[in-house]
Amino acid sequence: MQRKTSGGIVAGLDIGSTRTSVVIADVTGEDHRNPGVKILGVGQARTGGIRRELVTDIEATTESVRKAVKEAELMAGVTVEALYTGIAGEHIHAQPSNGVVAVGGEEIAPGDVERVHEVAQAIVVPVDREVFHAIPQEYIVDAQRGIRDPIGMAGTRLEAEVFIVTGSSTAAQNLRKSVSRAGYRVAELVLEPIASSLAVLSEDEKEIGVALVELGGGTTDVAVFHERKIRYLATLPWGGSTLTNDIVKGLSLPYAEATRTKERWGTARADTVDPNETFEVPGPAADQTRQIPRELLAHIMEQRMDEIINLVVDQIERSGFGGKLGGGIVLTGGGASMPGVIELTERIFAGPVRCGIPGNGLGGLVDSVRRPKFATGAGLAIFGARQVLETAGERGGAGKASVDHMIRWMKDWLNDFF
Ligand SMILES: Nc1ncnc2c1ncn2[C@@H]1O[C@H](COP(=O)(O)OP(=O)(O)OP(=O)(O)O)[C@@H](O)[C@H]1O
Ligand SMILES: [Mg+2]
Repeated sequence: MQRKTSGGIVAGLDIGSTRTSVVIADVTGEDHRNPGVKILGVGQARTGGIRRELVTDIEATTESVRKAVKEAELMAGVTVEALYTGIAGEHIHAQPSNGVVAVGGEEIAPGDVERVHEVAQAIVVPVDREVFHAIPQEYIVDAQRGIRDPIGMAGTRLEAEVFIVTGSSTAAQNLRKSVSRAGYRVAELVLEPIASSLAVLSEDEKEIGVALVELGGGTTDVAVFHERKIRYLATLPWGGSTLTNDIVKGLSLPYAEATRTKERWGTARADTVDPNETFEVPGPAADQTRQIPRELLAHIMEQRMDEIINLVVDQIERSGFGGKLGGGIVLTGGGASMPGVIELTERIFAGPVRCGIPGNGLGGLVDSVRRPKFATGAGLAIFGARQVLETAGERGGAGKASVDHMIRWMKDWLNDFF
């Protein structure tokens, strides 16, 4: 029998352009600044009805959500109701904004922080856009910069720098509709690169500077971090599907076969392939097969990946932090599993490059998400944990939340039992 969700369970929903994935987890951390989750269940489904991260067919998207959540619920042995849902795409805009207030009392109180946030967030948002995040990056008390938590400090002037992320209301509404038609509720819409960063980047990397590059199916997302602040976001309208289309044309294969070929035989470095090596694909008629040189496939993929990574590096330069990324590039998303892609990126970008696999703050069935394609799904669950812990902290400590959770869990367990 299934146990119902309680406050301590979170679920992340990543509706990618090729794949929908769901990660259900139990909140384990004590502090929202260092959230942890225990993975309970993971579900995946092929995405229908999405093009370049925008919903184009609600029914098809709804079906993918339903399938992926059901699979994760079955594995986890719990049912969920609210989903931390990823949002991304070219419609996203980000901008830093500052607010200043005078501090009335002897020391900075939570009310002062709330006020300064309100001021910093008071930007003009057009009617067709919504604010998804207003992330506090830094506080400045009188002349002192670099403060993370100003509450309790003495000062007369409080300044906050926030990073405001907005996006299309229509895109958001369509995501909410797909989720609610599937029978669930959006707990919060979360920018996908922010979620992924929680799962794959270390605090040190964010401090010394790092570019998170998510090689997705429909798009490639770039997020630059420096001094623990998010500095720049960009979305390029090319991804794994672009490579698949090249293979369709270059090797005259149907789309599904081209995808399989790319994932089974592909590499981003033609020089690593034996020129005599071939692989077999089904021929045009039912009883036919064709032999294709693997080097030819590698050439097609290398050429496109070279182009995409060059565009990524252009974006990093445009961010103004190109020369300041001690942590280099972290590649994640499904495309980061491509053999040779790390070496290809190292050839183009002068700095360290590594593959980002979810690991931070994870426990439980970690092996089921230890692949770069789960960066967003796992990150969304961690984001959810952070929100749960923060709310619990405001209500009087995470310890209380754990006790509440335990009592609720016992009640559910007893109900299930009798
Ligand atoms: N081993 C591999 N080699 C090459 N490409 C791969 C490999 N594994 C997965 N991919 C590609 O990664 C892409 C899917 O990645 P991911 O699941 O991160 O994307 P998505 O979330 O569906 O898309 P998006 O984030 O753009 O909306 C697909 O194009 C898939 O073919
Ligand atoms: Mg994705």
